Amino acid sequence: MNILITGSNGQLGNQMRLLGATSSHHYIYTDVSMPEGVCTQKLDITDLDEVRAIMRDGKVDVVVNCAAYTNVEKAEDDFATADLINHTAAANLAKACAEVGATLIHVSTDYVFQGDSCLPCTEEQPTDPIGAYGRTKLAGEKAIAEAGCNYIILRTAWLYSSFGNNFVKTMRRLTSERDRLNVVFDQVGTPTYAGDLADVIFKIVEEGMYKDHPGVYHFSNEGVCSWYDFAVEICKLSGNTCDIRPCHSDEFPSKVKRPHFSVLDKTKLKETFGVGVPYWKDSLEKCIEELKRKQD
Ligand SMILES: NC(=O)c1ccc[n+]([C@@H]2O[C@H](COP(=O)([O-])OP(=O)(O)OC[C@H]3O[C@@H](n4cnc5c(N)ncnc54)[C@H](OP(=O)(O)O)[C@@H]3O)[C@@H](O)[C@H]2O)c1
Repeated sequence: MNILITGSNGQLGNQMRLLGATSSHHYIYTDVSMPEGVCTQKLDITDLDEVRAIMRDGKVDVVVNCAAYTNVEKAEDDFATADLINHTAAANLAKACAEVGATLIHVSTDYVFQGDSCLPCTEEQPTDPIGAYGRTKLAGEKAIAEAGCNYIILRTAWLYSSFGNNFVKTMRRLTSERDRLNVVFDQVGTPTYAGDLADVIFKIVEEGMYKDHPGVYHFSNEGVCSWYDFAVEICKLSGNTCDIRPCHSDEFPSKVKRPHFSVLDKTKLKETFGVGVPYWKDSLEKCIEELKRKQD
C-alpha cells in the first residue's frame, strides 16, 4: 500500500513520519518546502497538476493531509491564502483521490463550531465558525464531502508536539524566563498531543479501517481544561516556578474571536475504531519528557 503524507514537516506530519518508519507499507513524505536534512519530496497541494502527478506516479492508495494554513491570527488578514490552502487545496486532494479511487484522510478543527455551548460537540452538531480560519477549514470539509472520494475527516483541537511552534513550547519558555504570567481561563477545551492523533490515523490506515467507516470524526485528548490550567501543568511538569494568574480574554485584545467552550465529543471515534484516548495530562507529560530529551 502507498500512503502519501502532505505537510510532513509540520507537527502532525512529523509524528506520522515517526510511525511510518515502523510500517511495512510505503509512506511518501511531502511538503511545500524541503528543509535541509529532512527527507521530503516537494508537493504544493494548491497545485492540482502536481497533486495528480504524484498520485499517479506513486500509485497512491491513501492520502493523509497534514498540510494546512494554521496561523489563526494571520488568516483574518490573509483570507485568500488561508482559503487556498485549507479549502481549494483540500478540494484538489479530494478530486485527485476520486479520480484514482484513493481515500483521503483529512484533518480539520474545533474552530468549525461557534464554541458557545457548554456540552461537548458531536459530529452532528451544526457548524458555525466565528473566524476566518474556521470558515476556510469548514469550506475544505464541504469540498471533500462533495468530491465523491472515500474520505475520513478528523476534527481536532489545541494541537501540540515536540515539533514546530505551539503553546506548550511557548509556555515552557515563558515560565522559565518570567516570574509572573497571566493566562486566560475563560476559554475551555482539550489539548491534543499530535503523537496521539497520529497513532489513531496510523491505526486506521494500517488496519484498513478507512474502507468501511467513512465520515467525520472528533479527536482530542480526554478531559477538559482552560488555557490557564494547561499553562500551570506545563510549568509544573517543566520544573519551572512561575506565578501564573488566571485572566479574561479581553486582557489580550485580538482580532480573532476564539470559541469559549470547544470540547469535542469523541464517542463516535472510540466506538467505530475501537481506540482508547489518553488523558490530556498523561500525554502532556509524555511530550514534555520528549522535549527534555531533545534539549539534552
Ligand atoms: N495546530 C493546532 O492547534 C490545530 C488545532 C486544530 C486543528 N489543527 C489541524 O491539524 C492539522 C495539522 O496541524 P499542524 O499543527 O500539524 O500544522 P503545521 O505544524 O502548521 O503544519 C502544516 C504543514 O503544512 C505545510 N503547508 C502549508 N502550505 C502547504 C501547501 N500549499 N502544500 C503543502 N504543504 C503545505 C506547512 O509548511 P510551511 O510551514 O512551510 O507553511 C507545514 O509544514 C491541520 O489540518 C490543522 O488545521 C491544528
